[in-house]
Amino acid sequence: MPMTAIVLAAGEGTRMKSRHPKVAHKLLDKPLVWWPVDAARKAGATRIVVVVGHGADEVRAIFANDPDVECVVQSERLGTGHAMMCVQEALGDFHGPTVVLYGDTPLMRAETISALVEETTSNHNACTVLTMLPPDPTGYGRIKRDEDGAVAAIIEHKDCTAEEQATLTECNSGIYCFCGRRLSENLNKIGNNNAQGEYYLTDMVAIYREMGEPVSAICADDYTELLGVNSRRQLAMATKVMQKRINGQLMDAGVTMLSPSQVWVGPEVTVGRDTELLPQTMLWGNTSIGEDCVVGPNTRLTNVVVGDGSSVEETVGYDTVIDEGVTVGPRAYLRPGTHLCDGAHVGTHVEIKNSTIGAGSKVPHLSYIGDTSMGSGVNIGAGSITCNYDGVFKHRTTIGNDVFIGSDTMMVAPVEIGDGALVGASSCITRNVPAGALAVERNDQVMIEGYATARMAKLKEQKANGERKQG
Ligand code: UD1
Ligand code: CA
Repeated sequence: MPMTAIVLAAGEGTRMKSRHPKVAHKLLDKPLVWWPVDAARKAGATRIVVVVGHGADEVRAIFANDPDVECVVQSERLGTGHAMMCVQEALGDFHGPTVVLYGDTPLMRAETISALVEETTSNHNACTVLTMLPPDPTGYGRIKRDEDGAVAAIIEHKDCTAEEQATLTECNSGIYCFCGRRLSENLNKIGNNNAQGEYYLTDMVAIYREMGEPVSAICADDYTELLGVNSRRQLAMATKVMQKRINGQLMDAGVTMLSPSQVWVGPEVTVGRDTELLPQTMLWGNTSIGEDCVVGPNTRLTNVVVGDGSSVEETVGYDTVIDEGVTVGPRAYLRPGTHLCDGAHVGTHVEIKNSTIGAGSKVPHLSYIGDTSMGSGVNIGAGSITCNYDGVFKHRTTIGNDVFIGSDTMMVAPVEIGDGALVGASSCITRNVPAGALAVERNDQVMIEGYATARMAKLKEQKANGERKQG
């Protein structure tokens, strides 16, 4: 049966001390709310609803390009039960297994959601609660069980007696699976007569028990999976847990890490076998690294594809394709639209933007190459630059195959340099260079024998005689 997931994310998160809604804060470069949505999708949810409220536009923007996700606005935060009422009002009745997740609980795994759904459907439960045993239950809703051990109710911390606060240690994770039909029929039975004057979704448990509907609870093996993020300290802790989980999977799959605690890999990144990730490496977005590569140290790649056998050292790169056997860095900056073809080399203090560097071509030292198509077998001398911007428009530079550009060459775009051409060092190239030609743009070298020696002697003499003083 198609499964629906509802992610509650309307809260403000005052403890974050932030201008942004809590669930927009990033964990391994993905917003907090992205994680439960991803877990729900992996568990097979066909419909995902995110309840937004505080900072609604910012949260909505996170899913602007995600066709599986719908957002419902809860304009007043009257409690978790009220959030569900808003969904029912906006989208109509719930159908099939309906899982409720929190936008600030990013460590929840898809397997746990699936187990919750399985428990609900196989027992025809009206509701299954996921519970946990945290070392400190303060603040959590407590699970009250009857003499037979069946779940009787969830009592919020603030509504517990002192004795209940001390003895009820099993806590509500806030994650449930409901039968959609029965939830639609009974959600309006929730009232707000409690310590916080809120509509508690947790009240559904006691409501169902009274009706004689089957309710059960499963306790998570590991409470850390259910840790909520309420503060920046907790965000850092959750980041560590997720970093460990992802890096562990990568190492199990054949990736080497000199120091796993100093490598951060986003959830959508892939890394091939026998690749080594060195310290202070961050791989974000849809980055994919091939096999037998070395990445890092000090490298951040976002949406970068790296082919097999390449090395990328001390580099920042975005929206770039690196083919096989390429060497990059140390200290390169690869900006969007860069394509480094097989065997290319981009060296130190080199910036490339919106350019193709052909197979085996080299840009080894101190260069800027922008809006350029470069063929294969090209050598760009140190300190050469494509002058692609006239202050208003960007222009292209086209360099053929097997071109040799001497050091400190300025190529003023638009300009074309033909196959096999040679450009003398320190030239400012403003006109096209035909294939096979030599282009040199510089004045003749002037030489005056003995001039420098004579000048220095004269200056020293003036100083000794006090004829000239320090300026
Ligand atoms: C809730 C549970 C509690 C559980 C705890 C686990 C209730 C009444 N209590 O308490 O039993 O132990 O989670 O973390 O459900 N939200 C909305 N709209 C609202 C209120 C909340 O979208 O009107 C969202 C929040 O953004 C947050 C989540 O629901 O993501 C939980 O809300 P919060 O008020 O923090 O609930 P807790 O008091 O922690
Ligand atoms: Ca010059």
